[in-house]
Amino acid sequence: MIKKAIIGGTGVYNTGEHSDTLTVYTKFGDVELNIVKNGEESIAFLARHGKNHSVPPHGINYRANMLALKQIGVKYIYTTAAVGSCNHNYAPGDVVMIDDFIDFTKLRQVSIFDESEDSVYHTDMSDPYCKNLRNLFKNIANKYDIDIKGNAVYGCTEGPRFETKAEIKYYNQIGVDVVGMTNVPEVVFAKELGMCYSTVGIITNWCTGFKGDDITLHDMQAALADNKEKITRAFIEIFSSDLSQENCMCVEATFKL
Ligand code: HPA
Repeated sequence: MIKKAIIGGTGVYNTGEHSDTLTVYTKFGDVELNIVKNGEESIAFLARHGKNHSVPPHGINYRANMLALKQIGVKYIYTTAAVGSCNHNYAPGDVVMIDDFIDFTKLRQVSIFDESEDSVYHTDMSDPYCKNLRNLFKNIANKYDIDIKGNAVYGCTEGPRFETKAEIKYYNQIGVDVVGMTNVPEVVFAKELGMCYSTVGIITNWCTGFKGDDITLHDMQAALADNKEKITRAFIEIFSSDLSQENCMCVEATFKL
């Protein structure tokens, strides 16, 4: 059983450690994972967009990915997400802890449970992101020279286009801090399957029209390069200790009607 996993977002395609490949077969499709040794244990690594960034946000097989992690025994998942900021306090290059989301996606699967199930499932979203994993990361961040600027509400868009100025103005007014294209439905499926899930947001740009700058690929890459190694090393150190699901509600969030 592999209990711990890292999902690398844009710019984070490996952990920097030696890994073996494992293909997991699920009813939603096959998933290729990298397995990294961490002392006596193994950690699963999944590149969300594929190793060559070839899978767009709307093309990711979220159900297969999350079910594959569940099938191999995963209970704890850390992820990174490249995000734009529509909060003046969070600038490109900053790191934030995602603690809630607003869902603007349109065409994605809404549940890991499909119509073939014999029951109807509902999942509590009062804490979509695991509090326990979030606190553990906050406690260790200093040691890795990661300056967490605060918590952030993630607005998830369908993509792959960026937002319009009017959309960003509206998102900002309704309480979105950062915008990305992938945390929904990933965090939802993790919760449905009783896995603890936490996302570290790496701010790569100001959102469209927010500070008048255009979004450039160069700026996005620089912010990611500065942070990715420190963040994955911090994940691996947290994963070196024993973790428990007793201090959060992640296991009990789904109920059956
Ligand atoms: N919008 C949506 N997704 C993103 C952005 C953005 O500005 N930056 C990085 N991912």
